[in-house]
Amino acid sequence: MDSRIRNYRVKHDLHDSESEALTAIISSMSQTSSPPLIDSFGRVHTSLRLSVTDRCNIRCFYCMPEKGAEFVPKDHILSFEEIYRLARLLVEEGGVRDIRITGGEPLVRQQIPRLIEMLAGIELLEDLSLTTNGMLLAEHAQALHAAGLQRLNISLDTLNKEVFEKIARRDGLERTLQGIDAAIKCGFKSIKLNTLAIKGVTEPEVAELVRYALERDVMLRFIEFMPLDTDRAWQQDQVFTGDQLLVTLQKEFDSVVPLSRPEPSQPAEEFQVEHGRVGIIRSITAPFCEACNRIRITADGAVRNCLFATSEAPLRGLIRAGASDEDLMSAIRGCIAGKSKAHGIDQDGFQPPDRPMYAIGG
Ligand code: 5AD
Ligand code: SF4
Repeated sequence: MDSRIRNYRVKHDLHDSESEALTAIISSMSQTSSPPLIDSFGRVHTSLRLSVTDRCNIRCFYCMPEKGAEFVPKDHILSFEEIYRLARLLVEEGGVRDIRITGGEPLVRQQIPRLIEMLAGIELLEDLSLTTNGMLLAEHAQALHAAGLQRLNISLDTLNKEVFEKIARRDGLERTLQGIDAAIKCGFKSIKLNTLAIKGVTEPEVAELVRYALERDVMLRFIEFMPLDTDRAWQQDQVFTGDQLLVTLQKEFDSVVPLSRPEPSQPAEEFQVEHGRVGIIRSITAPFCEACNRIRITADGAVRNCLFATSEAPLRGLIRAGASDEDLMSAIRGCIAGKSKAHGIDQDGFQPPDRPMYAIGG
């Protein structure tokens, strides 16, 4: 075992699986002498969420305000070349192995397939995925797949037009459903549907949504509603919890069998429900901060070490002032080093992040 890992392991009391992850990353980085991105709790960061825009074509109440959303000025948004430089650096020097493209809604940014193609060309990158609301997928799914996108997560909270309009404050269910079906035909390695678990809002359709996913042979995952809405209206009792979801699933389906978690950094608990799989992400009632391996870059070029971080490392200014790769990596490492142990939503005095969800990236 590498002596750096041994030291980390002892200092941070790492589990075997964490030490193994570290060993794998370090050995796959043999071309460089850079250490992986490790925080002060020994968590290794191999997963990058890259937001390409803060704009969106709908206005989900759990994310955006209905009117008057404030967007980053266009010239503050990183260019594809700037994004590519950071991504490549993080992969080659920092040990990142998977990238998920997020927004806002990433498909409202022009020419996304061109960015996908650039990122897909990074040799050491193992996985490239994108999260979308699906509304523009009917037009773009084929080009995304052809450009090298491997996996898609598509948000789907309801199958009812009125409920969609209540949640998204815009019309769009028809287009979303067409988008999902178009994507399924393209042959992606995986397609997952994401449903926010919100009491009284998505709760009544839990079984119907699962049936919809089972019919299409795609996995559906429920995500506990988190305090990331611009309106700051989130209340703990609006969360339709993982336990409550399970009760509903067990009532509605003949067989609901827990599956073992594929890897610790995977936030979803998985269940075999009839012939398909359903995931539950208990971001509130059983946070997975301990195994978190994610870092984020916002559309305007700030590195965040957590969705709920209260500080970030703004890189855009550095990049545009001609910073070297070493300068950028050192700013990124500083940001990772300052990562908190947990999001602390259940603690007194919890403050939601300054940026709402659409300006961070899902
Ligand atoms: N809580 C949890 N997840 C959220 N998302 C957006 N807002 C929230 C929130 N308040 C996630 C949803 C959506 C993706 C883009 O971001 O999963 O599908
Ligand atoms: Fe748009 Fe996604 Fe936010 Fe909904 S959750 S408003 S689709 S960015």
